[in-house]
Amino acid sequence: MTYRTEIRFLLNGADVTVTDVPADKTLLDYLRLERRLTGSKEGCAEGDCGACTVLVGRLAGGGLKYETVNACIRFLASLDGCHVVTIEHLRGQNGGLHPIQQAMVDFHGSQCGFCTPGFVMSLYALWMGNPEPTETEIESAIQGNLCRCTGYQPIIAAAMAANRYGSPAQDFLETERVNITERLTALSDGRRVVTGPEDNQAILPADVADFAAVLEDFPQATIVAGSTDVGLWVTKFMRPIGPAVFISHLQELKSVTLSDTALEIGAGVTYSEAQETICETFPHLKSYWDRIAGQQVRNMGTIGGNIANGSPIGDTPPVLIALGAQIVLRKGAKQRSLPLEQFFIEYGKQDRAPSEFVESILIPRPRTGQLHAAYKISKRRDEDISSVAAGFNVTVSEGRITDCRLAFGGMAGTPKRAAKAEAALRGQPWGEAAFLAAGQALQADFTPLSDWRASAEYRAIAARNLLQRFFLTHDDRSEAPVDLLSA
Ligand SMILES: Cc1cc2nc3c(=O)[nH]c(=O)nc-3n(C[C@H](O)[C@H](O)[C@H](O)COP(=O)(O)OP(=O)(O)OC[C@H]3O[C@@H](n4cnc5c(N)ncnc54)[C@H](O)[C@@H]3O)c2cc1C
Ligand code: FES
Ligand code: FES
Repeated sequence: MTYRTEIRFLLNGADVTVTDVPADKTLLDYLRLERRLTGSKEGCAEGDCGACTVLVGRLAGGGLKYETVNACIRFLASLDGCHVVTIEHLRGQNGGLHPIQQAMVDFHGSQCGFCTPGFVMSLYALWMGNPEPTETEIESAIQGNLCRCTGYQPIIAAAMAANRYGSPAQDFLETERVNITERLTALSDGRRVVTGPEDNQAILPADVADFAAVLEDFPQATIVAGSTDVGLWVTKFMRPIGPAVFISHLQELKSVTLSDTALEIGAGVTYSEAQETICETFPHLKSYWDRIAGQQVRNMGTIGGNIANGSPIGDTPPVLIALGAQIVLRKGAKQRSLPLEQFFIEYGKQDRAPSEFVESILIPRPRTGQLHAAYKISKRRDEDISSVAAGFNVTVSEGRITDCRLAFGGMAGTPKRAAKAEAALRGQPWGEAAFLAAGQALQADFTPLSDWRASAEYRAIAARNLLQRFFLTHDDRSEAPVDLLSA
């Protein structure tokens, strides 16, 4: 096979070609150290503070879409075919400040200024898509940006006022949309890219079949989707990741398909891309989804990555297991599927063979009689990892619990169902007695660990209380449980 050896993308107004790109080179290092674009700051180098926020535009679904990302944990190689927009590119109508920048100045949204470029980029992305945001929408857009000086209120005030300073229709990204689209289209030649030194190679497969073929050749390669986990292996743990196979550009892994019976989500779908359909199909996940990371990480991180990393504290596995999700794995052209809970064997060990990858996740649609809930307990509301997460799915028919799936994260070495608590509920009349018994049984299901997120005792009590909360939430209107689907 012939392949390309360089990465090609647009950086602000320029066409850029970079050869010999090591797998582990971050976009932030490239911008700051090689391009001397030092407006994007390095605060934490782990996706938490947002000081490095830039926009990345990509052609998808017939259009050009820009999103905020954390340049510190985004790898340069993954930007092939993209438009990277940094703070240096922002400008107003007559060469003055951009409307977002001017609003930040006028509303005193900046003090020491270290966080400011990141906030401006996050607010810029918000304003482009939603020029009249509510305060809640602003808070969501800046969930992934930290400021130690301003107390946030002046920044929110600036965001509320931004549209008075200029219209997105006149913004350069809008007026240059056709030109940028043409230039990005010209960059996509549909070829595999292989770049970087032998021991630190970055490989971008041409399509999913090619991805499968690359994994057959390099069974131990690191798969990199959104890099919101893998990025930290490099920036925090100095771990080598080469050869690395980058997959965030593979559109075939990005399909979201809703049929009469199930929602199928490609492994490469990000939290942001899944959000609308997932929250419409499973309304109980709406507030839960807002609690996953911050906007930049939601724009990068994939559901496939959240499952494949095997973490016991990932947020999607417990709720997906509770919903009865199946995972589809692929090796070469061969697919197999299994209930998601069976994918997690023990801490650090998943049912995934060398050269195999996660292709999609299949979630059955809710059925009449099912009561659902999703809970996340973490030290901070925003941008924090769960101490305990739970997904519940209890089927009630004629006042009796006929089926139930209770899944927890943070309670064991893997995301896990509470088999004994489920047994205590199944077949019982709906009522407090059944849930108290299930809470007791739950103590035998798990022996949680203590760590800096929570003590074992806290986790055990919190899990039991979540079960109680589920009962009280669904029991508050009458003796008979409320069916949320028909309520
Ligand atoms: C600031 C910050 C906040 C975060 N907050 C949360 C949070 O609130 N909740 C939460 O659950 N997580 C959180 N995370 C963790 C992370 O965002 C998620 O786990 C995310 O879903 C990982 O997806 P990714 O696409 O970025 O995976 P990557 O980092 O690209 O990969 C993760 C792992 O999965 C493997 N992998 C990826 N795709 C596939 C595939 N298709 N087949 C096989 N293997 C694959 C990779 O090889 C790697 O082992 C946070 C991370 C950061 C940096
Ligand atoms: S430097 Fe903090 S998120 Fe990137
Ligand atoms: S202005 Fe100082 S950190 Fe935000």
